[in-house]
Amino acid sequence: MGRIRILSDQVANQIAAGEVVDRPASVVKELLENALDAGATRIRVEVEAGGRKLIRMTDNGHGMMRDDALLAFERHATSKIRSSDDLLSIATLGFRGEALPSIASISRLEMETRVEDEPSGTRIEIVGGKVMRVDDAGAPLGTTFIIRDLFFNTPARRKFLKSETTELSHVTALVTHYALAHPDKHFELHSATHALLVAPPVRKPEERIFQIFGSETLDQLLSMAAERPFDRAGLPEPPPWKRDEDYAPPDPGFLRISGFISKPELQKLNRNSIYIFVNRRLIRDRLILHAVSEAYRNILPPTSFPVVLMFMEMPPHEVDVNVHPAKTEVRFRQQSLVHDFVRDSIRNTLIQTRPAAGFLAALTANPHATPSLLPAASPMPGEPESEPLARAEQAAEFALTPPIPPPQEVKLPFASELPTHGDGAAPAPPVAVPEEQAPSLNSLASLKPLGQLRESFILAVNDEGLWIIDQHVAHERVLFEKLLREREVERVQHQRLLMPLLVELLPQQMVLFTNIAKELERNGFEVEPFGPRTIAVKAAPVGLEGKELERTLMEVLEHSEREAQAQNLDTLRTRIAASIACHSAIKVNFPLDPVRMEWLLAELAKTDHPTSCPHGRPIVLRYSWKDIQRAFQRI
Ligand SMILES: Nc1ncnc2c1ncn2[C@@H]1O[C@H](COP(=O)(O)OP(=O)(O)OP(=O)(O)O)[C@@H](O)[C@H]1O
Ligand SMILES: [Mg+2]
Repeated sequence: MGRIRILSDQVANQIAAGEVVDRPASVVKELLENALDAGATRIRVEVEAGGRKLIRMTDNGHGMMRDDALLAFERHATSKIRSSDDLLSIATLGFRGEALPSIASISRLEMETRVEDEPSGTRIEIVGGKVMRVDDAGAPLGTTFIIRDLFFNTPARRKFLKSETTELSHVTALVTHYALAHPDKHFELHSATHALLVAPPVRKPEERIFQIFGSETLDQLLSMAAERPFDRAGLPEPPPWKRDEDYAPPDPGFLRISGFISKPELQKLNRNSIYIFVNRRLIRDRLILHAVSEAYRNILPPTSFPVVLMFMEMPPHEVDVNVHPAKTEVRFRQQSLVHDFVRDSIRNTLIQTRPAAGFLAALTANPHATPSLLPAASPMPGEPESEPLARAEQAAEFALTPPIPPPQEVKLPFASELPTHGDGAAPAPPVAVPEEQAPSLNSLASLKPLGQLRESFILAVNDEGLWIIDQHVAHERVLFEKLLREREVERVQHQRLLMPLLVELLPQQMVLFTNIAKELERNGFEVEPFGPRTIAVKAAPVGLEGKELERTLMEVLEHSEREAQAQNLDTLRTRIAASIACHSAIKVNFPLDPVRMEWLLAELAKTDHPTSCPHGRPIVLRYSWKDIQRAFQRI
């Protein structure tokens, strides 16, 4: 007898479930996406024990007729695509026809559903993939799912579940983010004891942020919007002999980005607060994450991450969503265009708004509890999570001043209690987003220096308030950007040393040195080998002398040693520029006369990113006029 057998549907479904459903949040995700695909405008989620015991999802979508309701639980049964051509431009969130049979195979499931024209609906009960009952039911229009005892028949999976609170936080993060992506719809999430989220429809995304997180969070975010046409359609055109008479080349369409990015003062320890939606689908994508990091490079410390809520819209054929069973990964057909546009849009937003850090942010923030943007670090379903980091994030306090490396967690302060009006179901009053004038560094140029604090910080004023500027990092930023500009045209100003500086290196440093010698030369260094383990520096960038010169070289070598593999020319370039800038910048404990202070402030005002130094430390703190008045109880 042969060895090979075809697996039963039951087993096949459980295998598929392993890919699609790995925790309660992934069930919620699939059901939510189905509800949205069904055109629902009201979605209510209830969970017990973090979703392990019960998940109930009610939507007011178009529902299903009796036959469809039964078919929906068959493998590969879907109403969303018909042929493989449809796979090329998927406009719905689901398309695989796998979610429901998968969920049904590993839980006790009940579903009630009714379409508009039929007087009564259908009720189906399935246990571990077996249909137990099918009845008529007097259900309201739409669909309700009840999923009990998730993984009851797959103990191995059940073991991998985390604590109730962790699972609940994943569910909350998920529903919250879908609510953010669909401000025009009503979302509710309830646990057995609490209303965790009640978000009636609003007109604008910022109103939804305000509704969910409160105005403090809005203050820490910058809104972003950009669009560009695609140069061409991402899909190849059919060959001429296959075209109809009235064939028209496809319209390339637009790439649109909107959403919110955090000011540099807000720093996270991991990428878990970067949320990316493509055509309203929540995804995880390395390419986009890379573009985000690139945009914040030399604004945030390399070990810190921003908060990003980004909604990308593009024609469906520009993105292949059929690359991952949980549909959390996608492939863009025009990768580099998308990558560069995301990077540039974020960077431009940061450059244009140049947000100033309020140094009394913590004092003026509401004194009550300030949970972070999300209930906890919340990786996407199916992603490994790092518990120690999550704990560290939760433990960290709101910092009084913008953090310095190593990054401290700054919690997004938001209303301690979500607006839960009574039983949570009553409509919320209309939301008015406060129109606050955003603190901006564009007014740096109008600053009048008053003097120095301990010969280290410049105190300055203008109509907007009182400012403190860290003289060292301010100069560092000025020099850094100047060096990069000069490097671009190969014109870094340098000076010859009276006496060559001899520097001794370790053998491996000598190897590294030969690797980076060319780039050093472009940055104004003139260095030659002087014996087997010594180099002689004959010229250096202006402003770099003596011990500082030697330290710069050592620092650059050290960095290239640590990052030998990940080194690319761009990072090397910025590393070198950052080192030179740091070592030739005005030091702390250094007296400055008014003219030099004014010069420094004017130069800083001209930089692209006066917010933070190349290592991500804040440069300027502002005590706004409003804060001052508030502190003196005048308003
Ligand atoms: N809440 C709902 N309201 C109306 N119809 C639904 C609902 N949920 C599921 N369906 C129907 O059941 C079908 C099967 O759902 P299922 O989630 O298994 O597959 P899918 O959404 O088509 O694809 P995927 O597996 O990628 O999610 C859907 O195509 C849809 O027609
Ligand atoms: Mg689905």
